[in-house]
Amino acid sequence: MSVIRAVPIGIGHYLPSRVVENSEFEKWLETSDEWIQARTGIQRRHFAADGEFTSDLAYHAAIDAIRDAGIEAADIDAIVLATSTPDQTFPSTATKLQAKLGIRTGFAFDLQAVCAGFAYAMTMANSLIVSGQATRILVIGAETFSRIMDWNDRTTCVLFGDGAGAVILEAQSGEGTTTDRGILACDLQSDGTYNDILYVDGGVSSTQTTGVLKMEGREVFKHAVTKLASSGEFALEKAGLGIDDVTWVVPHQANLRIIRNTAQKLRVPMERIVVTVQDHGNTSAASIPLAMSVAKKRGQIKQNDLILTEAIGGGLAWGSIVLRW
Ligand code: UT7
Repeated sequence: MSVIRAVPIGIGHYLPSRVVENSEFEKWLETSDEWIQARTGIQRRHFAADGEFTSDLAYHAAIDAIRDAGIEAADIDAIVLATSTPDQTFPSTATKLQAKLGIRTGFAFDLQAVCAGFAYAMTMANSLIVSGQATRILVIGAETFSRIMDWNDRTTCVLFGDGAGAVILEAQSGEGTTTDRGILACDLQSDGTYNDILYVDGGVSSTQTTGVLKMEGREVFKHAVTKLASSGEFALEKAGLGIDDVTWVVPHQANLRIIRNTAQKLRVPMERIVVTVQDHGNTSAASIPLAMSVAKKRGQIKQNDLILTEAIGGGLAWGSIVLRW
């Protein structure tokens, strides 16, 4: 039976030029490169320059993806941009990006699911393609988390970085089988009762300030491992596939220990896990497309590989995508 699939035809990423090594934080915080590496696997991260906004990072990632796909910006008829650090309260960063790309048709909107943003954006884009509302969608995760850090809180400010990753999905017909290219299954979940373990203490409606990130790291860690593994298994089950069918797991890059423990729960050897957290830190919604793009450029991800991605963040919100590249 012929079905419409959302097939990836291009991928790209962008990292701001300023690289900050762990040792930088030792200048004003009671921390060390040794602690950060041992507890998180992070060695460095990138921070956006003054005057460099989320839409700028998204623009460079989009151009990289458009070039990779071999299309023109005008061929894109929708933009779904996942971010928790928009340029402005409104309008959306997606419409700013649309203007920067010179696109004046179709539609663009932001979506906010913090670190799970890319899983949510891919699911939304998949639905738009399958329902016939768009044919070529630019899906982006872009963040400037450096703008919501408390630089005196050593338990959070060493963990995050800035960056953007972009994927172009195109409507193509498939056979309706697990060998089709494109998105094969999505799983989204959230539980708002966990608001207080990961949040920003400001907002438009509440304080009229931006606020800074607050996290009970140990609590989030526990939820992350169990929820990521079960969501990944659930998405594979929905797709009618098993863990042994997966070529690459591209997990949310928050902490190497979370990535290892989840891999162990999923019974996947680390050789099949894409890891970039050492160079990027946690870039929230950008983390998965960034890692995927790096893996593609490294020559790890190839056409027809089966990819499982899983992510969790504030909300709590979490989810997984199964797709064949
Ligand atoms: O993207 C989505 C969400 N985020 C995550 O997935 C993050 C989830 N959580 C984590 O990655 C980890 O819990 C952290 C990396 C945040 C913390 O690692 P941990 O092994 O859970 O450490 P901990 O919070 O249990 O803290 C252990 C000790 C504490 O000292 P005491 O109370 O034992 O004296 C902390 O104060 O480490 C201390 N500590 C630090 N020491 C040096 C916390 N941060 C630092 C630091 N440098 N930067």
